[in-house]
Amino acid sequence: MQPEFRPLRPADLDAMLAVEQGAHAHPWSRSLLADAFGERYFTGALWQENALLGYFIADRVLDETTLMNICVAPEWQGRGLGRQLLEHYFARCRALGLGWLWLEVRASNRAALSLYASAGYEESGRRRNYYPTADGHEDAVLMQKRL
Ligand SMILES: CC(C)(COP(=O)(O)OP(=O)(O)OC[C@H]1O[C@@H](n2cnc3c(N)ncnc32)[C@H](O)[C@@H]1OP(=O)(O)O)[C@@H](O)C(=O)NCCC(=O)NCCS
Repeated sequence: MQPEFRPLRPADLDAMLAVEQGAHAHPWSRSLLADAFGERYFTGALWQENALLGYFIADRVLDETTLMNICVAPEWQGRGLGRQLLEHYFARCRALGLGWLWLEVRASNRAALSLYASAGYEESGRRRNYYPTADGHEDAVLMQKRL
């Protein structure tokens, strides 16, 4: 069965937390994930039957949007699902009339940087030593895309 897109609901928080903690070295907390159901955010998720494979969380202000989080469960990575999620995000942005897309990513995150660049994002700046790491800090790369 092919994975399919279905919206996230507050009842999916446990599944989100499991994917989050598997995918990210620095995962969001449960309460931060719960904020994704607030008014200024929108989300999308890929499911295979009842299994959550990955999701994105984005905010929106006027005609701008920031991709706050995108992740795919480790066992499902490298099969094109991250790109599908990003394309789904772009489709949602178009439907919502959002033309200015922003994101921030750790400078060491080669997989995400490569995905974003191949999807048309361009680097627009850096925040020096923005993210904590196990042994110090690393830069945030700021990226933008015009839809
Ligand atoms: C980033 C992430 C969402 C990509 O999802 P994915 O399903 O593994 O990616 P896809 O299979 O769709 O690959 C899409 C592109 O990502 C890049 N990519 C994926 N894995 C990569 C790797 N190990 N090394 C380098 N580039 C990689 C490539 O550009 C790839 O395109 P290609 O297949 O044409 O080469 C996933 O690796 C992930 O969840 N990472 C942990 C969470 C994270 O860092 N999120 C982003 C910051 S919030």
